[in-house]
Amino acid sequence: MNLLDKLVIPLSPEHITLLHYISMLIFFLFVPFISIVLGGNILSLYYKSKGLKESNNLYLRFSRDIIEIVTINKSIGIMLGIMTLVTSILIYVQLFHDANLISVNYLTWAFVFVTIGLILIYTFRYSSAFSDLFNSIQDYKTDDQSIKEELENYRTSSRKLSFKAGRFGLAFLLIGLWLFVAGVTLAFFTKDWSDKNILTILFSWSVISRFIPFIITAIAFTGATILFSFFYWEGGIKNLPEDYKAFVRKTGINLTAFSSIVLPIFILIDITNLPDNAISSGVFFFLTIGLLLLFLGYHYLYVMYKNSDAKYSLHIFLVILLTIFTVIIADQTAMGNANQTQTFLLAQNFETEMAKLTEGNKPKVISGEDIYKNICSACHSFDHKVVGPPYKQTLPKYHDDVDKLVKFILNPTQNNPGYPPMPNPGLKPDEAKAVATYILKEVRKYE
Ligand code: HEC
Repeated sequence: MNLLDKLVIPLSPEHITLLHYISMLIFFLFVPFISIVLGGNILSLYYKSKGLKESNNLYLRFSRDIIEIVTINKSIGIMLGIMTLVTSILIYVQLFHDANLISVNYLTWAFVFVTIGLILIYTFRYSSAFSDLFNSIQDYKTDDQSIKEELENYRTSSRKLSFKAGRFGLAFLLIGLWLFVAGVTLAFFTKDWSDKNILTILFSWSVISRFIPFIITAIAFTGATILFSFFYWEGGIKNLPEDYKAFVRKTGINLTAFSSIVLPIFILIDITNLPDNAISSGVFFFLTIGLLLLFLGYHYLYVMYKNSDAKYSLHIFLVILLTIFTVIIADQTAMGNANQTQTFLLAQNFETEMAKLTEGNKPKVISGEDIYKNICSACHSFDHKVVGPPYKQTLPKYHDDVDKLVKFILNPTQNNPGYPPMPNPGLKPDEAKAVATYILKEVRKYE
């Protein structure tokens, strides 16, 4: 990945935060879209083969309608399914280039598989339309036997092509998304994963326990999207036969209900799986909102089920979409937490680069407070644990001995069990002295 590494530019702490937000927004686009393509493709294939086996036109029509709804059109596929992935790879390269390249590798492979998968699925969609065309002229009245045979040949071969494209598309998309989930999961675990081989990683509990809910969410959201686009979007699809309408409604409600009912279990599993340094009150907060939204969703589904109507199609669509958003926010917050040391190192890199550029331009006033705010406060607070221990707890043992503290800051050693080692903040002696004096003075306020 040397090529990608060349794209890396030094980042200030503000840029890093901004990148985390952009990556969240990108996931807001990518995850819901790819979810309905995945879920819709599975359903469409299922009803197509069921419909052909039982010669049931209702199933065949459903299969065709679903794949048309979920794939929207080619440009949207390229924008939401492919451009988003490229962007998130570029962001991950910036955020992890020297620490966690393996995560970027997985995302790059995910991109390759997802792209091939999407091309095949769009082929499935358009070739399905063809084979339906041949189906509809099946009864074409002619006495010419050769025309009849030719038509029949076209019909079977286009059907085969369409099935093949759909099935291979599904396989590629599934593998691509599995790699995607692995890549995102790897970003949580900085060092201990780099020497593991791909199968160990793909089949590790951390990855599997995130991939399964990903698929279940995809099904739930597909169900909700079906309800939404048949019964709400632009006033719902007009002139649907009653039996078809009832079938679509029942299928949509069942899919969403059965799949969203198991999701809370996986959300809880996910929390227990995260590394300790990833969990914060923010993570809990967003996951709790996600759970509450799901419960609200059950309520709407139940009412629609009881009244045999589709009145809450919009509500259920929004509820599942918002649940996806909150889980993404929780996840990205957790990732930010787990990577605080990495963020610090990147920011430090930036300071060095900037110092090189501005060298000699301005007279330097060293402020201990600024150093504390810009560097130390990423990991320290005076009165509570952040990444490092609270100053209130560690500073008293220095008994106001500035020089002793300067020694530690210039060359941190491991002093506190239960904490990771402190990375060297790379200060000059006079800067270390300024910040040492400042924190020794400040900490008295907390006595
Ligand atoms: C990337 C996170 C990080 C940054 C940035 C950081 N520290 Fe630390 N610091 C830690 C961790 C983790 C520990 C606990 C290490 C240990 O003692 O085992 C620690 C420990 C300390 C201690 C306790 C030492 C002792 O003897 O118990 C002091 C004092 C301290 N840091 C001061 C600073 C100052 C001053 C800065 C800013 C110049 C700073 N730290 C920046 C993570 C950080």
